[in-house]
Amino acid sequence: SYATTADGLPRTIAHRGLSAHLPENTLSAVRAAKQIGCDWVEIDVQLLGDGTPVIWHDNGVRRCSDSRGKLAKLDLERAKALDVGSWFSRHFAEERMATLDEMLTLLDELEMGVNLELKVNRGRDPLSLVEAVMPKALTALPAERLIVSSFNRTALDAARDAQPDPERLRIGLLYEKAPREWQRDAKALNAFSLHVDWRKLKEKRAREIKDAGYALFCYTPNDPVAFAPQWDWGVDGVISDDPALFKHHLPESAS
Ligand code: G3P
Ligand code: MG
Repeated sequence: SYATTADGLPRTIAHRGLSAHLPENTLSAVRAAKQIGCDWVEIDVQLLGDGTPVIWHDNGVRRCSDSRGKLAKLDLERAKALDVGSWFSRHFAEERMATLDEMLTLLDELEMGVNLELKVNRGRDPLSLVEAVMPKALTALPAERLIVSSFNRTALDAARDAQPDPERLRIGLLYEKAPREWQRDAKALNAFSLHVDWRKLKEKRAREIKDAGYALFCYTPNDPVAFAPQWDWGVDGVISDDPALFKHHLPESAS
């Protein structure tokens, strides 16, 4: 496997699974991450119209399936009828949308870690998402193999309420760019980590976050040479579409 930090945190997390090479957010993309030696994945979770939590990024199904329309309009039977692989390559025509249950079973089998992103797209309700997802996630995986993140503050507050003990639930604050008052949010949530867009991260902010004792992850760098300075700022790990690219470009302390 790839390196971890001294604290056992992953240096690489496969973004939406190994999404550079397989259709994103699928069981196959997660299996493939494990096969290349990346033990952690980031995946997005949201609800179908019938309340089933599924692994899906967009508000609609157009980009990543053979159909169109909103995810919230589908029940499980209709969602399972979609081909969610052919848009990527004809080799994946058999791929079906993964439910959260199926995904958690696989992650448990493969002993992988997961950054579960509570994805609250426009018009969707954060509270019903958290209510459906958190009991399953907390039961399926040990605390050290789960980080729950979101851009949505209501979702994060509710996730923290679902498990107030920070030792038992690691909360990741997701930002495009960490705002000046990031520490207020992190304290209020008893957060474990910050997850930021690597292109918007400045050295000063990175060091501030690390000095305050939080884990720091960057999405979604796919160029290990361009990312080299960020490791020196103390970044713990990258959430990348292609973690293998980083294999020989990780900080010394990692190996
Ligand atoms: O969790 C990091 C990253 O996945 C956030 O953005 O749009 O890829 O879900 P997005
Ligand atoms: Mg995501």
